[in-house]
Amino acid sequence: MSTLESTIAATDEPAPKPSDKFSFGLWTVGWIANDPFGGPTRPALDAVEAVERLAELGAYGLTLHDDDLFPFGSSDDERRRAIARLTSALQANGLVVPMVTTNLFSHPVFKDGGLTSNDRGVRRFALRKVLRNIDLAAELGAETFVMWGGREGSEYDSAKDVRAAFERYREALDLLCDYVIDQKYPLRFAIEPKPNEPRGDILLPTVGHALAFIETLAHPELVGVNPETGHEQMSGLNFMHGISQALYSGKLFHIDLNGQRGIKFDQDLVFGHGDLANAFALVDLLENGGVNGGPSYRGPRHFDYKPSRTEDSSGVWASAAANMRMYLLLKQRAAAFRADPEVIEARRAARVDELRLATLDPGETYRELLADGSAYEEFDADSYFGGMGFGFVRLNQLAMEHLMGAR
Ligand code: GCO
Ligand code: MN
Ligand code: MN
Repeated sequence: MSTLESTIAATDEPAPKPSDKFSFGLWTVGWIANDPFGGPTRPALDAVEAVERLAELGAYGLTLHDDDLFPFGSSDDERRRAIARLTSALQANGLVVPMVTTNLFSHPVFKDGGLTSNDRGVRRFALRKVLRNIDLAAELGAETFVMWGGREGSEYDSAKDVRAAFERYREALDLLCDYVIDQKYPLRFAIEPKPNEPRGDILLPTVGHALAFIETLAHPELVGVNPETGHEQMSGLNFMHGISQALYSGKLFHIDLNGQRGIKFDQDLVFGHGDLANAFALVDLLENGGVNGGPSYRGPRHFDYKPSRTEDSSGVWASAAANMRMYLLLKQRAAAFRADPEVIEARRAARVDELRLATLDPGETYRELLADGSAYEEFDADSYFGGMGFGFVRLNQLAMEHLMGAR
Protein backbone atom coordinates (compact mmCIF):
# COMPACT_ATOMS: atom_id res chain seq x y z
CA MET A 1 0.00 0.00 0.00
CA SER A 2 1.31 3.47 -0.83
CA THR A 3 1.63 6.04 1.93
CA LEU A 4 -1.37 7.84 0.51
CA GLU A 5 -3.46 4.66 0.43
CA SER A 6 -2.55 3.73 3.98
CA THR A 7 -3.34 7.28 5.12
CA ILE A 8 -6.72 7.05 3.46
CA ALA A 9 -7.33 3.58 4.92
CA ALA A 10 -6.37 4.83 8.37
CA THR A 11 -8.53 7.93 8.13
CA ASP A 12 -11.45 5.95 6.71
CA GLU A 13 -11.57 3.70 9.73
CA PRO A 14 -11.44 5.90 12.77
CA ALA A 15 -11.21 3.73 15.85
CA PRO A 16 -12.44 5.18 19.14
CA LYS A 17 -9.75 5.35 21.81
CA PRO A 18 -9.77 6.51 25.43
CA SER A 19 -8.10 9.82 24.52
CA ASP A 20 -11.24 10.69 22.49
CA LYS A 21 -13.03 10.84 25.87
CA PHE A 22 -16.23 9.10 24.78
CA SER A 23 -18.58 8.30 27.65
CA PHE A 24 -22.03 6.69 27.91
CA GLY A 25 -24.77 6.72 30.51
CA LEU A 26 -25.46 3.35 32.14
CA TRP A 27 -29.14 4.17 31.47
CA THR A 28 -28.49 4.52 27.71
CA VAL A 29 -27.09 1.10 26.72
CA GLY A 30 -29.02 -0.26 29.72
CA TRP A 31 -32.41 0.98 28.52
CA ILE A 32 -34.82 -1.95 28.44
CA ALA A 33 -36.89 -0.09 25.84
CA ASN A 34 -40.17 0.49 27.65
CA ASP A 35 -42.23 3.46 26.45
CA PRO A 36 -45.66 4.85 27.36
CA PHE A 37 -47.28 2.50 24.83
CA GLY A 38 -45.51 -0.77 25.53
CA GLY A 39 -43.34 -2.75 27.90
CA PRO A 40 -39.67 -3.62 27.58
CA THR A 41 -38.32 -5.32 24.46
CA ARG A 42 -34.93 -6.17 26.01
CA PRO A 43 -33.69 -7.72 29.25
CA ALA A 44 -31.88 -5.68 31.89
CA LEU A 45 -28.16 -5.12 31.36
CA ASP A 46 -25.70 -5.82 34.14
CA ALA A 47 -23.45 -2.87 35.02
CA VAL A 48 -20.33 -5.04 34.81
CA GLU A 49 -21.23 -6.13 31.27
CA ALA A 50 -21.82 -2.50 30.32
CA VAL A 51 -18.34 -1.59 31.56
CA GLU A 52 -16.73 -4.49 29.68
CA ARG A 53 -18.52 -3.84 26.39
CA LEU A 54 -17.95 -0.09 26.45
CA ALA A 55 -14.26 -0.58 27.18
CA GLU A 56 -14.00 -3.04 24.27
CA LEU A 57 -15.63 -0.50 21.97
CA GLY A 58 -13.09 2.19 22.94
CA ALA A 59 -15.07 4.36 25.35
CA TYR A 60 -13.26 5.93 28.30
CA GLY A 61 -16.12 6.63 30.67
CA LEU A 62 -19.37 5.44 32.17
CA THR A 63 -21.87 7.80 33.82
CA LEU A 64 -24.83 6.91 35.99
CA HIS A 65 -27.78 7.83 38.14
CA ASP A 66 -27.83 6.36 41.64
CA ASP A 67 -30.87 4.25 40.72
CA ASP A 68 -29.18 2.83 37.59
CA LEU A 69 -26.74 1.00 39.84
CA PHE A 70 -28.87 0.06 42.85
CA PRO A 71 -32.67 0.23 42.78
CA PHE A 72 -34.48 2.92 44.79
CA GLY A 73 -34.86 1.70 48.36
CA SER A 74 -31.84 -0.65 48.31
CA SER A 75 -30.39 -1.45 51.72
CA ASP A 76 -26.97 -0.06 52.61
CA ASP A 77 -25.48 -3.51 52.09
CA GLU A 78 -26.99 -3.91 48.63
CA ARG A 79 -25.85 -0.42 47.72
CA ARG A 80 -22.26 -1.04 48.89
CA ARG A 81 -22.14 -4.36 47.04
CA ALA A 82 -23.27 -2.77 43.77
CA ILE A 83 -20.71 0.03 44.15
CA ALA A 84 -17.91 -2.44 44.89
CA ARG A 85 -18.79 -4.59 41.85
CA LEU A 86 -18.82 -1.52 39.63
CA THR A 87 -15.56 -0.16 41.02
CA SER A 88 -13.68 -3.38 40.42
CA ALA A 89 -15.10 -3.69 36.87
CA LEU A 90 -14.02 -0.10 36.18
CA GLN A 91 -10.53 -0.81 37.43
CA ALA A 92 -10.23 -4.08 35.52
CA ASN A 93 -11.29 -2.41 32.28
CA GLY A 94 -9.63 0.98 32.69
CA LEU A 95 -12.86 2.99 32.59
CA VAL A 96 -13.56 6.14 34.64
CA VAL A 97 -16.77 7.75 35.90
CA PRO A 98 -16.49 11.39 34.83
CA MET A 99 -20.09 12.31 35.71
CA VAL A 100 -22.77 11.21 38.15
CA THR A 101 -26.40 12.36 38.37
CA THR A 102 -29.42 11.70 40.60
CA ASN A 103 -32.70 10.09 39.68
CA LEU A 104 -35.32 12.54 40.95
CA PHE A 105 -37.94 11.49 38.42
CA SER A 106 -38.81 7.75 38.44
CA HIS A 107 -40.24 7.03 41.88
CA PRO A 108 -43.86 8.10 42.55
CA VAL A 109 -42.64 10.35 45.37
CA PHE A 110 -41.23 12.64 42.63
CA LYS A 111 -44.45 12.89 40.64
CA ASP A 112 -44.49 16.67 41.17
CA GLY A 113 -40.71 16.96 41.01
CA GLY A 114 -38.00 16.73 43.65
CA LEU A 115 -36.32 20.03 44.44
CA THR A 116 -39.36 22.07 43.39
CA SER A 117 -42.25 19.81 44.41
CA ASN A 118 -45.12 21.71 46.04
CA ASP A 119 -44.69 19.22 48.91
CA ARG A 120 -41.99 20.49 51.29
CA GLY A 121 -41.36 16.98 52.67
CA VAL A 122 -40.59 15.72 49.18
CA ARG A 123 -38.18 18.63 48.66
CA ARG A 124 -36.28 17.75 51.85
CA PHE A 125 -36.21 14.06 50.88
CA ALA A 126 -34.92 14.97 47.38
CA LEU A 127 -32.13 17.09 48.86
CA ARG A 128 -31.04 14.19 51.06
CA LYS A 129 -31.05 11.84 48.05
CA VAL A 130 -28.87 14.25 46.09
CA LEU A 131 -26.46 14.82 49.02
CA ARG A 132 -25.99 11.08 49.40
CA ASN A 133 -25.34 10.78 45.70
CA ILE A 134 -22.80 13.63 45.77
CA ASP A 135 -20.82 11.54 48.26
CA LEU A 136 -20.96 8.67 45.75
CA ALA A 137 -19.86 10.97 42.89
CA ALA A 138 -16.85 12.05 44.94
CA GLU A 139 -16.07 8.44 45.85
CA LEU A 140 -16.15 7.42 42.17
CA GLY A 141 -13.89 10.34 41.23
CA ALA A 142 -16.44 12.19 39.10
CA GLU A 143 -15.73 15.82 38.22
CA THR A 144 -19.23 16.78 37.07
CA PHE A 145 -22.57 16.36 38.80
CA VAL A 146 -25.47 16.73 36.36
CA MET A 147 -28.81 18.16 37.45
CA TRP A 148 -31.56 17.23 34.99
CA GLY A 149 -34.91 18.41 36.35
CA GLY A 150 -37.21 16.32 34.18
CA ARG A 151 -40.01 16.37 36.77
CA GLU A 152 -39.38 19.93 37.92
CA GLY A 153 -42.24 21.64 36.13
CA SER A 154 -45.96 21.50 35.62
CA GLU A 155 -48.89 20.70 33.39
CA TYR A 156 -51.30 23.26 34.89
CA ASP A 157 -50.52 26.96 35.20
CA SER A 158 -52.95 27.25 38.13
CA ALA A 159 -51.10 24.62 40.16
CA LYS A 160 -47.50 25.82 40.17
CA ASP A 161 -46.10 29.08 41.52
CA VAL A 162 -43.27 29.10 38.98
CA ARG A 163 -41.48 32.03 40.57
CA ALA A 164 -41.48 30.27 43.95
CA ALA A 165 -40.23 27.12 42.20
CA PHE A 166 -37.18 29.07 41.00
CA GLU A 167 -36.59 30.29 44.57
CA ARG A 168 -36.63 26.66 45.75
CA TYR A 169 -34.37 25.55 42.90
CA ARG A 170 -31.92 28.27 43.89
CA GLU A 171 -32.18 27.32 47.58
CA ALA A 172 -31.35 23.72 46.64
CA LEU A 173 -28.38 24.58 44.39
CA ASP A 174 -26.99 26.95 47.02
CA LEU A 175 -27.16 24.21 49.66
CA LEU A 176 -25.53 21.65 47.33
CA CYS A 177 -22.72 24.08 46.50
CA ASP A 178 -22.15 24.76 50.23
CA TYR A 179 -21.88 21.01 50.79
CA VAL A 180 -19.38 20.46 47.99
CA ILE A 181 -17.27 23.38 49.21
CA ASP A 182 -17.33 22.18 52.84
CA GLN A 183 -16.45 18.61 51.85
CA LYS A 184 -13.70 19.93 49.54
CA TYR A 185 -15.04 17.78 46.71
CA PRO A 186 -13.56 18.67 43.30
CA LEU A 187 -17.05 18.61 41.76
CA ARG A 188 -18.93 21.10 39.62
CA PHE A 189 -22.64 21.08 38.82
CA ALA A 190 -24.04 21.08 35.29
CA ILE A 191 -27.72 21.91 34.74
CA GLU A 192 -29.32 20.04 31.85
CA PRO A 193 -32.10 21.99 30.12
CA LYS A 194 -35.11 20.37 28.46
CA PRO A 195 -38.35 22.04 27.35
CA ASN A 196 -40.84 19.25 28.15
CA GLU A 197 -41.22 15.48 28.69
CA PRO A 198 -41.97 14.06 31.14
CA ARG A 199 -43.57 17.31 32.44
CA GLY A 200 -45.74 19.39 30.14
CA ASP A 201 -43.40 22.31 30.81
CA ILE A 202 -40.05 21.80 32.50
CA LEU A 203 -38.29 24.61 34.40
CA LEU A 204 -35.10 25.86 32.68
CA PRO A 205 -36.24 24.74 29.22
CA THR A 206 -33.23 25.89 27.20
CA VAL A 207 -29.52 26.65 27.57
CA GLY A 208 -30.30 30.36 27.69
CA HIS A 209 -32.77 29.96 30.55
CA ALA A 210 -30.24 27.91 32.52
CA LEU A 211 -27.44 30.43 31.96
CA ALA A 212 -29.62 33.25 33.26
CA PHE A 213 -30.66 31.21 36.33
CA ILE A 214 -27.06 30.32 37.20
CA GLU A 215 -26.23 34.00 37.64
CA THR A 216 -28.78 34.21 40.50
CA LEU A 217 -26.95 31.55 42.56
CA ALA A 218 -24.66 32.11 45.53
CA HIS A 219 -21.84 30.18 43.81
CA PRO A 220 -22.31 30.67 40.07
CA GLU A 221 -18.68 29.62 39.50
CA LEU A 222 -19.55 26.06 40.58
CA VAL A 223 -22.49 25.70 38.22
CA GLY A 224 -22.53 25.34 34.42
CA VAL A 225 -24.66 23.58 31.84
CA ASN A 226 -24.97 20.13 30.27
CA PRO A 227 -26.81 20.84 27.02
CA GLU A 228 -28.33 17.92 25.10
CA THR A 229 -28.58 18.02 21.30
CA GLY A 230 -32.16 16.82 21.09
CA HIS A 231 -33.44 18.97 23.93
CA GLU A 232 -32.50 22.25 22.22
CA GLN A 233 -33.84 20.91 18.93
CA MET A 234 -37.16 19.98 20.61
CA SER A 235 -37.55 23.76 21.04
CA GLY A 236 -36.66 24.36 17.39
CA LEU A 237 -33.33 25.85 18.44
CA ASN A 238 -29.90 25.54 16.84
CA PHE A 239 -27.77 23.34 19.14
CA MET A 240 -24.51 24.75 17.78
CA HIS A 241 -25.72 28.24 18.74
CA GLY A 242 -26.62 27.07 22.23
CA ILE A 243 -23.21 25.45 22.68
CA SER A 244 -21.54 28.60 21.39
CA GLN A 245 -23.33 30.69 23.99
CA ALA A 246 -22.44 28.22 26.74
CA LEU A 247 -18.77 28.47 25.64
CA TYR A 248 -19.02 32.27 25.50
CA SER A 249 -20.23 32.20 29.11
CA GLY A 250 -17.50 29.76 30.19
CA LYS A 251 -20.26 27.35 31.21
CA LEU A 252 -19.88 24.30 28.97
CA PHE A 253 -19.10 21.89 31.83
CA HIS A 254 -20.45 18.77 30.08
CA ILE A 255 -22.38 17.83 26.92
CA ASP A 256 -25.03 15.23 26.01
CA LEU A 257 -24.71 14.25 22.35
CA ASN A 258 -27.53 12.52 20.49
CA GLY A 259 -29.88 12.88 17.53
CA GLN A 260 -33.35 14.38 17.12
CA ARG A 261 -35.53 14.85 14.06
CA GLY A 262 -37.44 18.06 14.53
CA ILE A 263 -39.92 19.31 17.08
CA LYS A 264 -41.49 16.21 18.58
CA PHE A 265 -41.02 13.86 21.54
CA ASP A 266 -37.48 13.33 22.83
CA GLN A 267 -36.03 10.77 20.41
CA ASP A 268 -32.54 10.32 21.89
CA LEU A 269 -31.29 8.91 18.57
CA VAL A 270 -27.65 8.13 17.80
CA PHE A 271 -25.52 11.26 17.45
CA GLY A 272 -25.74 12.50 13.86
CA HIS A 273 -28.85 10.45 13.07
CA GLY A 274 -30.95 13.60 13.41
CA ASP A 275 -29.81 16.94 12.02
CA LEU A 276 -26.53 15.81 10.46
CA ALA A 277 -25.55 19.23 9.10
CA ASN A 278 -25.89 20.74 12.57
CA ALA A 279 -23.92 17.82 14.04
CA PHE A 280 -21.12 18.58 11.56
CA ALA A 281 -21.12 22.25 12.61
CA LEU A 282 -21.11 21.20 16.27
CA VAL A 283 -18.14 18.84 15.94
CA ASP A 284 -16.30 21.50 13.95
CA LEU A 285 -16.99 23.96 16.79
CA LEU A 286 -15.89 21.54 19.54
CA GLU A 287 -12.78 20.35 17.70
CA ASN A 288 -11.69 23.40 15.69
CA GLY A 289 -13.57 26.36 17.13
CA GLY A 290 -11.12 27.35 19.84
CA VAL A 291 -8.37 29.94 19.62
CA ASN A 292 -6.04 29.29 16.66
CA GLY A 293 -8.31 26.51 15.40
CA GLY A 294 -7.82 24.18 18.40
CA PRO A 295 -10.57 22.48 20.42
CA SER A 296 -13.03 24.76 22.19
CA TYR A 297 -14.09 22.04 24.67
CA ARG A 298 -11.95 19.37 26.32
CA GLY A 299 -14.46 17.54 28.50
CA PRO A 300 -16.11 14.17 27.92
CA ARG A 301 -17.95 13.56 24.64
CA HIS A 302 -20.93 12.02 26.40
CA PHE A 303 -23.63 10.14 24.52
CA ASP A 304 -27.08 10.32 26.08
CA TYR A 305 -29.02 8.32 23.51
CA LYS A 306 -31.44 5.42 23.62
CA PRO A 307 -30.80 2.32 21.49
CA SER A 308 -34.13 2.21 19.62
CA ARG A 309 -36.85 -0.10 20.88
CA THR A 310 -36.54 -2.13 17.68
CA GLU A 311 -33.00 -3.29 18.55
CA ASP A 312 -31.91 -6.47 20.29
CA SER A 313 -28.75 -6.75 22.39
CA SER A 314 -26.42 -6.81 19.41
CA GLY A 315 -28.20 -3.72 18.10
CA VAL A 316 -27.54 -2.00 21.42
CA TRP A 317 -23.77 -2.35 21.00
CA ALA A 318 -23.89 -1.56 17.28
CA SER A 319 -25.71 1.68 18.12
CA ALA A 320 -23.24 2.53 20.90
CA ALA A 321 -20.39 2.09 18.42
CA ALA A 322 -22.32 4.15 15.85
CA ASN A 323 -22.32 7.20 18.16
CA MET A 324 -18.53 7.20 18.41
CA ARG A 325 -18.05 6.46 14.73
CA MET A 326 -20.36 9.32 13.74
CA TYR A 327 -18.39 11.68 15.96
CA LEU A 328 -15.02 10.56 14.58
CA LEU A 329 -16.19 10.67 10.96
CA LEU A 330 -17.53 14.19 11.49
CA LYS A 331 -14.25 15.15 13.15
CA GLN A 332 -12.31 13.88 10.10
CA ARG A 333 -14.58 15.71 7.71
CA ALA A 334 -14.41 18.91 9.72
CA ALA A 335 -10.60 18.73 9.64
CA ALA A 336 -10.64 18.21 5.86
CA PHE A 337 -13.09 21.11 5.50
CA ARG A 338 -10.81 23.44 7.46
CA ALA A 339 -7.71 22.36 5.48
CA ASP A 340 -9.25 22.69 1.99
CA PRO A 341 -7.65 25.71 0.20
CA GLU A 342 -10.95 26.51 -1.50
CA VAL A 343 -12.67 26.57 1.89
CA ILE A 344 -9.97 28.82 3.29
CA GLU A 345 -10.54 31.20 0.38
CA ALA A 346 -14.34 30.99 0.72
CA ARG A 347 -14.12 31.69 4.46
CA ARG A 348 -11.94 34.70 3.72
CA ALA A 349 -14.38 35.96 1.09
CA ALA A 350 -17.25 35.42 3.55
CA ARG A 351 -15.23 37.40 6.11
CA VAL A 352 -15.82 34.72 8.74
CA ASP A 353 -12.72 35.60 10.75
CA GLU A 354 -13.33 39.34 10.43
CA LEU A 355 -15.99 38.93 13.12
CA ARG A 356 -13.18 38.19 15.57
CA LEU A 357 -11.78 41.70 15.02
CA ALA A 358 -12.97 44.23 17.59
CA THR A 359 -15.36 46.75 16.07
CA LEU A 360 -13.48 49.63 17.71
CA ASP A 361 -9.76 50.34 17.39
CA PRO A 362 -7.68 49.83 20.53
CA GLY A 363 -8.50 52.68 22.92
CA GLU A 364 -11.21 54.04 20.63
CA THR A 365 -14.37 55.32 22.34
CA TYR A 366 -17.66 56.65 21.03
CA ARG A 367 -15.93 60.08 20.73
CA GLU A 368 -13.45 58.87 18.09
CA LEU A 369 -16.18 56.83 16.42
CA LEU A 370 -18.37 59.94 16.19
CA ALA A 371 -15.43 61.86 14.70
CA ASP A 372 -14.68 59.18 12.09
CA GLY A 373 -16.30 60.29 8.83
CA SER A 374 -15.32 57.04 7.10
CA ALA A 375 -17.56 55.15 9.52
CA TYR A 376 -20.69 57.06 8.60
CA GLU A 377 -20.67 60.23 6.46
CA GLU A 378 -18.43 58.70 3.77
CA PHE A 379 -19.49 55.09 4.28
CA ASP A 380 -21.14 53.74 1.12
CA ALA A 381 -24.16 51.90 2.55
CA ASP A 382 -25.85 51.92 -0.88
CA SER A 383 -23.15 49.67 -2.33
CA TYR A 384 -24.78 46.83 -0.37
CA PHE A 385 -27.78 47.01 -2.70
CA GLY A 386 -27.03 44.59 -5.52
CA GLY A 387 -23.43 44.20 -4.43
CA MET A 388 -21.21 43.24 -1.50
CA GLY A 389 -22.67 39.72 -1.23
CA PHE A 390 -21.11 37.57 1.46
CA GLY A 391 -20.93 34.30 -0.42
CA PHE A 392 -22.23 32.30 2.54
CA VAL A 393 -24.03 29.84 0.27
CA ARG A 394 -20.82 28.94 -1.58
CA LEU A 395 -19.08 28.34 1.73
CA ASN A 396 -21.94 26.22 3.05
CA GLN A 397 -22.03 24.19 -0.18
CA LEU A 398 -18.36 23.39 0.39
CA ALA A 399 -19.18 22.39 3.97
CA MET A 400 -21.97 20.07 2.79
CA GLU A 401 -19.74 18.53 0.12
CA HIS A 402 -17.10 17.78 2.74
CA LEU A 403 -19.81 16.37 5.00
CA MET A 404 -20.94 14.08 2.17
CA GLY A 405 -17.41 12.98 1.36
CA ALA A 406 -17.73 14.57 -2.07
CA ARG A 407 -14.48 16.49 -1.70
C1 GCO B 1 -33.45 12.99 28.65
C2 GCO B 1 -32.35 13.28 29.55
C3 GCO B 1 -32.00 12.41 30.61
C4 GCO B 1 -30.92 13.02 31.47
C5 GCO B 1 -30.40 12.04 32.42
C6 GCO B 1 -29.54 12.74 33.42
O1 GCO B 1 -33.24 12.37 27.62
O2 GCO B 1 -34.50 13.49 28.92
O3 GCO B 1 -31.24 13.26 28.73
O4 GCO B 1 -31.56 11.24 30.05
O5 GCO B 1 -29.82 13.46 30.73
O6 GCO B 1 -31.45 11.39 33.00
O7 GCO B 1 -30.23 12.96 34.57
MN1 MN C 1 -33.04 13.39 25.75
MN1 MN D 1 -29.38 14.09 28.74
